[in-house]
Amino acid sequence: MSQLPSAAQHYAREGELTGRILSTLTAEGKDLDRLTAEDLSPYDQFHSRGQQATAELAQLLNPQAGQLVLDLGCGIGGPARWLAARHGCRVVGLDLTEVYCRTAGELSARVGLSGQTAFVCANGLALPFATASFDVIWTQHAAMNIADKARLYREVARVLKPGGRFGLYDVMAGPAGDPYFPVPWSASAEWSHLTAPEGVREAILATGLKQRHWRDLTAESKAWSEKAVAAQTAGKGPSGPAIILGPSFAEMVANLRRSLFEDRITVVQAVFEKAG
Ligand SMILES: C[S@@+](CC[C@H](N)C(=O)[O-])C[C@H]1O[C@@H](n2cnc3c(N)ncnc32)[C@H](O)[C@@H]1O
Repeated sequence: MSQLPSAAQHYAREGELTGRILSTLTAEGKDLDRLTAEDLSPYDQFHSRGQQATAELAQLLNPQAGQLVLDLGCGIGGPARWLAARHGCRVVGLDLTEVYCRTAGELSARVGLSGQTAFVCANGLALPFATASFDVIWTQHAAMNIADKARLYREVARVLKPGGRFGLYDVMAGPAGDPYFPVPWSASAEWSHLTAPEGVREAILATGLKQRHWRDLTAESKAWSEKAVAAQTAGKGPSGPAIILGPSFAEMVANLRRSLFEDRITVVQAVFEKAG
């Protein structure tokens, strides 16, 4: 464990996950022999606004059947499975955290999506793919762990095919100062690398990609957070990523909410395109 890159140490500390997720689903009355990608979605969409955010970004990027998509920082593979199931595309999920990649592969096998999804444990700063490999590249809530944004987006631009599109849904720095820690992506400031939206945009444009869409979803994230708290208070909220991050998840979410409502973080959805 001590040799893991720091962000992976943060994410990997709860160990094996597949068994915990499957036991939770069994307790909810799900038949594990008939499990679908949809059944997993309360547990495998590891970003604010959950499956709704994935569906929105998918609608913007609209990958076609047979196309190859890269999910950079794929977590346990929920968005990759959602894309493969709904759009018929093939998805390679890449993540720094080894146990997440293994869990992602096991869950894909459970829902019959092994043929359309594959998971690679690697660093997004050194993508192990040839230039111009992917029709679509997508990343949700992973760049906040990555300090060298210029190198990250250069790698994205390199492995994207000409005419291909890059979509992001990310947490960025807000105008009111640093977030409160721990948050779901980092136990302390050491592993959190938030850049203001303009800095992110500049880093991406510097690679030659052209902006096609940019939307600040901070207000929507606040509204979603209010609903999630109300559902949990009424005893209806899914435990969701608490399974992934363990008992301290409640404190992380409280800090996330406080940071969000004090404008210490911003949530942005964007699409860029590589010239054809
Ligand atoms: C909050 S999770 C989001 C997971 C997934 N994108 C989702 O929305 O369900 C952030 C993920 O980014 C991964 N990550 C952080 N730094 C990374 C890096 N340098 N390269 C690849 N993945 C990274 C973490 O391991 C973690 O799985």
